Amino acid sequence: MLWFRDTESRLNDRKEKYRRDWREDFYDCVKELAEHPVVLRMKLYPHHGASNCYQHCLNVAFYNYCWCRFFHLDARSAARGGMLHDLFLYDWHTHRRKTGDCLHGITHPRAAYKNAVKFFELNRIEKDIILTHMWPLTFFRFPRTKEGWITVLTDKYCGSLETGKRKTVN
Ligand SMILES: [Fe+2]
Ligand SMILES: [Fe+2]
Repeated sequence: MLWFRDTESRLNDRKEKYRRDWREDFYDCVKELAEHPVVLRMKLYPHHGASNCYQHCLNVAFYNYCWCRFFHLDARSAARGGMLHDLFLYDWHTHRRKTGDCLHGITHPRAAYKNAVKFFELNRIEKDIILTHMWPLTFFRFPRTKEGWITVLTDKYCGSLETGKRKTVN
């Protein structure tokens, strides 16, 4: 029994160490983006549930990083693409009323891409992630990279978790 507890605690220590190390490595990959004033502006725009665009992008970036690192893909580009994938910089809840654009779900990847390339140099994977993350809504614009396919999943996963965690009403 003592042996079992000892092994369990050693496994927990190792798990905790990996979690800490991966978090630090992740932040090193996205630091330049996450602390840039244009990216910080995403905090002004509410997104799913009680989250804002910045928090959502940070969540997607982190899950992208973990999954891609686990599968030995380009975790750095996946994290960076995730951090910028919703850089459309407006409140989509009022966007339709203000602009008449009722296709936000389809048009915002291109808006995010235009903003992202204005401020950052992006590689092929990062561009793919931003432009195709809304698949299957953007039916003919589908991911060409494995990191892009992972983002299709992490974006929906994070979006649904955030939507589930609505603001509490007092
Ligand atoms: Fe999006
Ligand atoms: Fe998203």
